[in-house]
Amino acid sequence: MMMCFRKLTLSLVLTLPLVGYAFPTEKEGFNLVGHLGNLSPYQKAPVPNGIKEELPGDCKVEQVMLMHRHGSRFPLASELPFITNLVSKLSNHSSTIQKLKLEPELEFLKSGYVSTLGHDDLTGPGRKQLFDHGVAFRLNYPDLQATSILAGLQDRVVESAQWFAEGYFGRSWSGLNSTVFSTIPEDSATPSWITPSNTCKGWQYAFGNNLTIEWGTLYIPPITKRLNKLLPGVNLTNDDIHGALYACAYDLAAHGVSPWCNAFEQSEILDFEYELDLLMVGAFGYDLPGKMGPVLGALFVDKLIQRFTDTSSSAQQLYLEFGHDTTIDFALTALGFAKDTPLLSAKGPVRANRKWRTSTQVPFAAQMVWEKFTCSSSFKGPQIRLLLNDSPFPLSTCKKMDRKFGSCALNDFVEVNKASTSISWGDSTWNSTCGN
Ligand SMILES: *[C@@H]1O[C@H](CO)[C@@H](O)[C@H](O)[C@H]1NC(C)=O
Ligand SMILES: *[C@@H]1O[C@H](CO)[C@@H](O)[C@H](O)[C@H]1NC(C)=O
Ligand SMILES: *[C@@H]1O[C@H](CO)[C@@H](O)[C@H](O)[C@H]1NC(C)=O
Ligand SMILES: *[C@@H]1O[C@H](CO)[C@@H](O)[C@H](O)[C@H]1NC(C)=O
Ligand SMILES: *[C@@H]1O[C@H](CO)[C@@H](O)[C@H](O)[C@H]1NC(C)=O
Repeated sequence: MMMCFRKLTLSLVLTLPLVGYAFPTEKEGFNLVGHLGNLSPYQKAPVPNGIKEELPGDCKVEQVMLMHRHGSRFPLASELPFITNLVSKLSNHSSTIQKLKLEPELEFLKSGYVSTLGHDDLTGPGRKQLFDHGVAFRLNYPDLQATSILAGLQDRVVESAQWFAEGYFGRSWSGLNSTVFSTIPEDSATPSWITPSNTCKGWQYAFGNNLTIEWGTLYIPPITKRLNKLLPGVNLTNDDIHGALYACAYDLAAHGVSPWCNAFEQSEILDFEYELDLLMVGAFGYDLPGKMGPVLGALFVDKLIQRFTDTSSSAQQLYLEFGHDTTIDFALTALGFAKDTPLLSAKGPVRANRKWRTSTQVPFAAQMVWEKFTCSSSFKGPQIRLLLNDSPFPLSTCKKMDRKFGSCALNDFVEVNKASTSISWGDSTWNSTCGN
């Protein structure tokens, strides 16, 4: 997420579980790391039932468009105070805590909980995620040639693109003349498919921070009550508990481990995950008013279709681009994927069977990879498929999706996305949606 939320913001981040990192123990088989919403560390998404990951042997990928989220980061500046206030509160009550008989999962408080988290920037594990993905991309598409890299102009995004490039090209990549590294501003004046909402004034007013505030007032107080019973005299507030949930996610993002993660029940983590989903669907997805979500996401879909249907010599084999969870969530919204009917609501309870899942859609270092491929016999004409976080994501809105591969004919894809391609930045639809 790229912007600061006003007031009570909840944000979310989690970190990555890569070799060499200690993750919190799984309580009763529950893997918390996969349930931290858009604060989850990178992980491969589940492969949908019955969908094959490998294309048939007679098919060849000809063009790829990668939209990569930045890797694990520190909390946003707006989120950090929740953690620092918690730390201060605990420190002020350290003598009380010393005298308490604590449950094993809170025992760590006796030695004091300190935090050295920064804010906004990429973390060590975040750097590793991007480097690893650069290497993997090289191995996945050995025959395709990259000639450019584009990053949204924000430090953690630019740094992410750089680490990816180190893994993909090697250490001398910045001297490669054939590869152009460029950035695109993330401001309110520059139309961009990476940050479409930045140029939409109406979005500033509409974005659904409300959902998360509403849900927070429902799910956090019972946790506060439970933990205050275990920590008499410390008097934790709801904001402190929010801070402790952030501490779990962001310690993981920065250090690979957090004592706080074990302090929560499975259902409490699932409630937190729902908060993160509500935030993203409310501010960058279907719960925005009217057609705002699809209209903003249309900029990405237009770019994709324009490139994959470009038969001129300016078409590139690979497009390597770096942005945000919000970029991917807007795109999914324009494409009509992961849509819940009725819309997700903050009135509770958690909609357990919901389709919108930021834990699998947009963890840190999420990768949305679009492939255009042709086959000598399996399919006629150019085909398209989506790999979201290393697993096929079925293009279910196509008229004739292939059930084995989740792919469809490029023509079909173009046809069913006409609503997006009929919209462009600054046209009458855009203006009426954004109140320009
Ligand atoms: C901790 O104590 C200091 C000094 O009295 C005070 O300024 C601070 O607000 C306290 N922290 C919290 C979170 O109450
Ligand atoms: C890059 O290209 C420019 C102009 O084409 C050329 O002068 C320069 O030597 C090249 N640099 C490298 C590192 O190849
Ligand atoms: C969010 O809450 C504010 C004030 O409480 C209200 O003015 C605004 O309309 C709400 N936004 C949405 C999208 O519900
Ligand atoms: C606990 O915190 C609340 C809200 O900050 C305050 O009103 C209350 O007096 C505190 N209770 C104790 C026992 O410190
Ligand atoms: C949309 O708004 C912009 C900025 O106000 C304006 O320049 C443009 O002409 C508008 N487009 C249409 C189709 O009205």
